[in-house]
Amino acid sequence: MCQFSRQLVLQLILYFAIGHIYGKQVFKSIVGGGAVIQQKYPYYVRLHYRGEFKCGGSLVRNNAVLTAAHCVEDFSVEELSIHADTINLDDNGVVRTIKYALVPKEYDKETKNYDVAVLILSSAIPSASVITLHKTAVAVGTSCLVIGHGYTKENGVVSNQLQEIHVPVVSRKVCQHKYRGIGAITQYMMCASEPGRKDSCSGDSGGPMICNGKQAGIVSWGMGCGRVEYPSVYTDISKVHGFIEHALKLYA
Ligand code: ARG
Repeated sequence: MCQFSRQLVLQLILYFAIGHIYGKQVFKSIVGGGAVIQQKYPYYVRLHYRGEFKCGGSLVRNNAVLTAAHCVEDFSVEELSIHADTINLDDNGVVRTIKYALVPKEYDKETKNYDVAVLILSSAIPSASVITLHKTAVAVGTSCLVIGHGYTKENGVVSNQLQEIHVPVVSRKVCQHKYRGIGAITQYMMCASEPGRKDSCSGDSGGPMICNGKQAGIVSWGMGCGRVEYPSVYTDISKVHGFIEHALKLYA
């Protein structure tokens, strides 16, 4: 009995700390890029739902993936899978199912604020290569790498081959100004794009933005793709890493 109530209390504490724990019991490209032809980014993974490609992600532990909350919110954990060590959609790679999808209580579906999720894998990938997180804010103008299988143009299709681009970070002030009347650019978001030329797009969501060799952002949302007026919006890891560390400490 004692054991049982202790477990219940623990579950409640975890619930208030994490927000949503979608477990087995309960329970969600790049424009102007170049093709990745060798396995240069071994930490990049794909998230599939019922076998179909949905989003990108990154390995932050050999048993944990970082992605966007909006990539997992609508799906049951049982039907999600992680595909690692592959750069082509035709290749399944190393496949794992997911034990828990951890979404922060701050995540807002409507505004995409705090768009981050930690996925704990059913079993570790022994050969996994992990990416370190960028824990400080990235300077405006920094050129960052974004990789993904997303659309190569606004109303396009996903790209079979993984694509890569480098995009400069845009100041939050400038980004807020561009998105006025459309959506809030909060302190948990950062923006980047090379206006009209290089950008992320549908399908790139959840994938990593790497600045100075560390993961600084997660592909989140944007108005169209590759437009001159609108940069893409990324989750700012320096602002949400508290949640990430906490989730990893408890579950990974
Ligand atoms: N929300 C999109 C997805 O789910 C990614 C958006 C990336 N940026 C853009 N400008 N559309 O894949």
